[in-house]
Amino acid sequence: MDPIDFQNFVLEWAVIEGRKDLPWQHPVSPYRVWISEVMLQQTQVATVIPYFQKFIRQFPDVQSLAIAPLDQVLTLWSGLGYYARARHLHESAKLIVAGDTFPNTLLALMALPGVGRSTAGAILSIAFEQSAPILDGNVKRVLSRCFGVSGWSGDTTVLKELWQLSALYTPEKKTAAYTQAMMDLGAMVCKRRQPLCEQCPVNVACIAFQNNKVHLLPRAKPKVKLPVKEKIFLMLMNDEREVFLIKRPLKGIWGGLWCLPEFSDLEGALNWCDSYLHLEPVYQLQQVRRHTFSHYHLDYQVVCMKIEIREIVLDGSVCYCPATDFELGLPAPMKRLLKQL
Ligand code: ADE
Repeated sequence: MDPIDFQNFVLEWAVIEGRKDLPWQHPVSPYRVWISEVMLQQTQVATVIPYFQKFIRQFPDVQSLAIAPLDQVLTLWSGLGYYARARHLHESAKLIVAGDTFPNTLLALMALPGVGRSTAGAILSIAFEQSAPILDGNVKRVLSRCFGVSGWSGDTTVLKELWQLSALYTPEKKTAAYTQAMMDLGAMVCKRRQPLCEQCPVNVACIAFQNNKVHLLPRAKPKVKLPVKEKIFLMLMNDEREVFLIKRPLKGIWGGLWCLPEFSDLEGALNWCDSYLHLEPVYQLQQVRRHTFSHYHLDYQVVCMKIEIREIVLDGSVCYCPATDFELGLPAPMKRLLKQL
């Protein structure tokens, strides 16, 4: 299909069916589009909406984000996952404030931590009306099906082909509407499961639809078995039902978030309690739980011990009382564990 026809069909469809009430659309600004696009990188729209609203209430502009303590940013991010995104936003905000204006070129946007080519393209097109292609999961699916791209988009050659298609079909004008329309088409019609091909504005040209191969495209990521790591988390609780938490180093999983102290095994946890706190090895070991990251499964057990009321003096540690204390940036599994108390 001719790019002009394709664009017109997609744009006309979006006038009627596209999403027009997403919170980052009212009002549109580079800052709000940037925050929303980073939140949407690995998270569904429905999950992002309340986080976006809370985030913008707390940090209405890039200046307020830049001067905030990282802890406050991570607290707002708590539960959204992929915490590097929050650290990158904070870092980027400082860079943007140090510069003169909000970055508005592909190079300048991609120089920000956490902004790849697709996110930069989305910001350029949606916030600046510049003609820039994007290639997020939704657009990959639409293009793979429509143009019959049969390989897996993790392969460099396939990815290159998809980028070329995206660039070829991105219009010179109405780029904000077109980019949003392609995302909407992928999310609402060209869905991964049970796509609504009869409602698709480009089904006459869709190679997958015409050849009954919609369910086969895009090719799924080849399945690899995720490795399993085992950890012990130590829950030290005093008579006030306060729990001892440690702030994790910035590098690595849950960087900068508050967490129960982590050990490789039970022996390590008990040795630590003995040598630092002189605690008797009286404990309760909970069942194994699993938390899955993108690259491994974490199988963990919580070992609970009672401690006398006292302050444990350690750099970057805090006694946290889940019922009453101020909110800390906690990873979702820790939040769940503390909620049980
Ligand atoms: N996914 C990524 N960016 C999006 C946007 N602007 N609207 C809806 N879904 C999206």
